[in-house]
Amino acid sequence: MSGMTLVSDDDIAEKLYRDNYKTIQKYVDILASRGVDWGLIGPREVDRLWERHILNSAALESLIPKGCRVADVGSGAGLPGIPLAILRPDLEMTLVEPMLRRSNFLTESVDELGLGSQVTVVRERAEDADLDVDVVVSRAVAKLVTLVAWTADLIAGSGCLLALKGQSAEDEVAKARKELLRRRLSAEVLLVRADPASEVTRAVRVRRLE
Ligand SMILES: C[S@@+](CC[C@H](N)C(=O)[O-])C[C@H]1O[C@@H](n2cnc3c(N)ncnc32)[C@H](O)[C@@H]1O
Repeated sequence: MSGMTLVSDDDIAEKLYRDNYKTIQKYVDILASRGVDWGLIGPREVDRLWERHILNSAALESLIPKGCRVADVGSGAGLPGIPLAILRPDLEMTLVEPMLRRSNFLTESVDELGLGSQVTVVRERAEDADLDVDVVVSRAVAKLVTLVAWTADLIAGSGCLLALKGQSAEDEVAKARKELLRRRLSAEVLLVRADPASEVTRAVRVRRLE
């Protein structure tokens, strides 16, 4: 359940995903079965997949312009990239994940979800990836200062890095200050949520200074 309301996270997702609800439901089933079997999702996460993983990922949606090329770096089991790609068929998504088991999981999942024409899996470390995208998204991969160093060169001129950070957002922005200045980048902490009825989280948006 979300907050004090009687609306379940599953209900919120059904409203949010509309015609694509069956696909996101299938992804949740994959996370709860193969994701747990392969050790990518902790067994205790299964009851909170909608809130902590799907809706948390979807919270970035409003910050991504239409028709963008997006890379999810350190995608793991596909978060936040897969929930965003299902929600936004207009996005061209690349999931960047260096670990073999995880990238195999991603390739199988993308195939089973029928997302092959929209989502590409790249088995690479972010800092070695040869990509040119409009937006990089990332969750639970590295401190902001490191993420900025790894991804700044992957992002086209007017693009941005969107990092889901939770409570540590302001602190990480402060610690990345020198690196941001050196690269002529600015960072702001934004409060975001997938739906008015879902949990608020913090995203850091990093963009080039004018
Ligand atoms: C804690 S997991 C988070 C996975 C997913 N983003 C999530 O929120 O559930 C961190 C992931 O970052 C990946 N990773 C570690 N170093 C990386 C690098 N240099 N470039 C890209 N991904 C990396 C790991 O293999 C792992 O899958």
